[in-house]
Amino acid sequence: MDMLRIGDLHKRFGEKEVLRGLHLSVPEHSIYGFIGKNGAGKTTAMKTVLGLLQADAGEITVNGEHVVYGQTATNRYIGYLPDVPEFYPFMTAREYLRFCGEICGMKKAENESRCKELLDLVGLGEETHRIKGFSRGMKQRLGIAQALLHRPKLLICDEPTSALDPVGRKEILDILLAVRKQTTVLFSTHILSDVERICTDVAFLNNGAAKIQGKLSEMKMRYRREEYRLETERETDITILRKAFPQMKSVGQNQVVFSANDYAAEVVLRFLADRKISLLKWEREEPTLESLFMEVTRK
Ligand SMILES: Nc1ncnc2c1ncn2[C@@H]1O[C@H](COP(=O)(O)OP(=O)(O)OP(=O)(O)O)[C@@H](O)[C@H]1O
Ligand SMILES: [Mg+2]
Repeated sequence: MDMLRIGDLHKRFGEKEVLRGLHLSVPEHSIYGFIGKNGAGKTTAMKTVLGLLQADAGEITVNGEHVVYGQTATNRYIGYLPDVPEFYPFMTAREYLRFCGEICGMKKAENESRCKELLDLVGLGEETHRIKGFSRGMKQRLGIAQALLHRPKLLICDEPTSALDPVGRKEILDILLAVRKQTTVLFSTHILSDVERICTDVAFLNNGAAKIQGKLSEMKMRYRREEYRLETERETDITILRKAFPQMKSVGQNQVVFSANDYAAEVVLRFLADRKISLLKWEREEPTLESLFMEVTRK
């Protein structure tokens, strides 16, 4: 089942048409990477899903229920981490989370145990300082804990890693990976390596619509090129290869790529075996997210 479905969503701000027929299907228990450059409309789409912005046209369902602008019924299924989360700086993480639990009407004992569980999950279990001294990464982690408090079926994070260093980013990605069993995760980003690392599904938002979307693995298969990359142990072997196969292109140290249209893989492999050239690497070239992103945004 799809935890979130967006159908033909349109949204304009004055003259500017930001969303122009966005369709999105987010399967249950996926980690969905919502990719788009600055100003593409990621935050706009997410706020519309939360019923915070009114769409001009289109339909959104969360867990099979329709989202209605200005009403919060479907938000009981959603945990939301905004792009710039705000906290009460004078509180500690535990005080803040406990306070949020009280607002949600959680019973005292349940609130205590849930807070402990979540603070441990996001690595803030031992943290006693006030939030005002927190790093950006710590704030994002606290924000995720808060978003998960009421056990949402869908966790929406708006660029959770964009402002973080590699260590902070990895911590967030590990948390998102860890919560996948309990919830579905949708996060927006323009950091493609984060998507490669944890996402099961992706969509590229461009010109107000999702140009390519679906399972990352299928996408890589679909856009796979008939190209191979090989690496030899010695530089001289590359010279021998390029002499025999002039269409091969050198890429980096002791590496060449070639197209199966130019040379059949078996022919190249036989050539290597006959001359006892030892290989360090032999692989089919995978399309990178970057190459797909460039292709999508160029159109
Ligand atoms: N309330 C608003 N009023 C007018 N224009 C808006 C409003 N909110 C967003 N926009 C415009 O809509 C476009 C999309 O903005 P949005 O914040 O959704 O993009 P984004 O993909 O989240 O970008 P970023 O990566 O910078 O966060 C931008 O051009 C922005 O200026
Ligand atoms: Mg945004």
